[in-house]
Amino acid sequence: MNKMNYPSESSSVRYSGPRIKNIAVVGTGYVGLVTGTYFANHGINVICLDISEERITKLNQGQAPFFEPGLDEYTHKALNKNKLTFTTDYDQALKEAEIVFICVGTPPKNGDADMSFVESALKSTCEKLDHDAVIVGKSTMPFGILSWVLDVIKDNKKDNVKIDWVVNPEFLSEGTAILDMESPSRVVIGGEDEEAVEKVVSLYKDVTSPIIHTDVESAALIKYASNSFLATKISFVNSLANVADKLGGDVTDIIKGMGLDPRIGSRYLRPGIGFGGSCLPKDIQAFYKTAEKHDSHFDILKVVEEINLNQTKVIVEKLKDLLGTLKGKKIALLGLAFKQDTDDIRESPAARLVNFLVDEGAVVVGTDPEAMPNFRKLNLEMQFADDAYQALKGADALVLVTEWEVYFNLDWKKVKELMADPVVVDGRNFLDKAQLKSLGFKYTGIGTR
Ligand code: UDX
Repeated sequence: MNKMNYPSESSSVRYSGPRIKNIAVVGTGYVGLVTGTYFANHGINVICLDISEERITKLNQGQAPFFEPGLDEYTHKALNKNKLTFTTDYDQALKEAEIVFICVGTPPKNGDADMSFVESALKSTCEKLDHDAVIVGKSTMPFGILSWVLDVIKDNKKDNVKIDWVVNPEFLSEGTAILDMESPSRVVIGGEDEEAVEKVVSLYKDVTSPIIHTDVESAALIKYASNSFLATKISFVNSLANVADKLGGDVTDIIKGMGLDPRIGSRYLRPGIGFGGSCLPKDIQAFYKTAEKHDSHFDILKVVEEINLNQTKVIVEKLKDLLGTLKGKKIALLGLAFKQDTDDIRESPAARLVNFLVDEGAVVVGTDPEAMPNFRKLNLEMQFADDAYQALKGADALVLVTEWEVYFNLDWKKVKELMADPVVVDGRNFLDKAQLKSLGFKYTGIGTR
């Protein structure tokens, strides 16, 4: 193995071997599908593998298993170029693969990342590979697991086959995944073997942003540290908004004033109902728990988590201030997805809000342009409406939960006529409050009135 020095950027890393032509991607969830399609659209032959027959059948018909703007077209483009194939068969996927990306889920399990899917994908890949290859961990994997991974590889690979392990975390945001993949802020590649790292770097030939290469543990930590820092920013700004609510300041102006300091910046400082999704909540928990296991701590993240869970209650308190008791009151929730432009409801604050409102005796009706089928599966005590106007008929209050553009552009005169009481709690400081106030709505945002 050629051991690497770790320069900060990859300008010095140039792969001079044969061009990588074939890769396999194991797992066709969010990360796997977007990653595979990206490489296929950039000239690599990609075979995406999933153990779910149903998923592969749909993908072969060009149907993505989730909603992501532009993904259907992006996948069709790759399929039409004959660069993308879907299969359930490991032999087919690995036959020519020079690099194998592991993109299976690492869902939360008692606060840790459940590594059983990674283990099973790694085992199957190692058992089947009959030629040298690089395996790349792209799923979010905890730090401190390198020796475990190397043992799984050693115990399952064929004797005459050389397998190198590289970590290449993904930083995609749902709703903007294709843009994030095409123009990433950075690419991080962690690995010990020079040639293996260079091969992976060579796949990103069309990327103009910095490519950072590090050791394996640092690459895993960059992912956790990034998501944890983002979560901390949100809990910071939500606390700030709550203070502004009590003291009389306006958080929008405060953020503007802070954000002009280039050391702070104004991005990712939008106050709201709290963060959700498949990454931030799970990663902060896994980060502080893993740190504790390694005799360290990251207690700041426990507070970030607590602030986030409490943030949903802020909405309930605001409704009570405006309506008095919520018993029997009809509360319409606009948006159920954890953020706009996705049908993903994982850790959506909307679910927490529904439960709190039901506890107060409210009648909850919700709507969402994409996420209703997923949200229905939660079986919460609520009604669903086809669109915002239907949800708002006779409502005592509207809560803007997810900032879908369609809600910004509602016919607000019509909304006012439909509602029993024109109370608006803007859980994302998203709506045009000047317009709403001029129409006679009783508007309140988060840290802004
Ligand atoms: C996040 C990271 O951004 C991405 O880099 C990583 O790869 C996966 O996790 P994602 O979960 O898709 O991406 O969504 P993101 O846009 O980061 O939003 C996460 C949550 O924070 C959402 O609930 C969103 O509404 C909330 N949020 C975001 C805020 O409340 N305020 C903000 O300023 C930004």
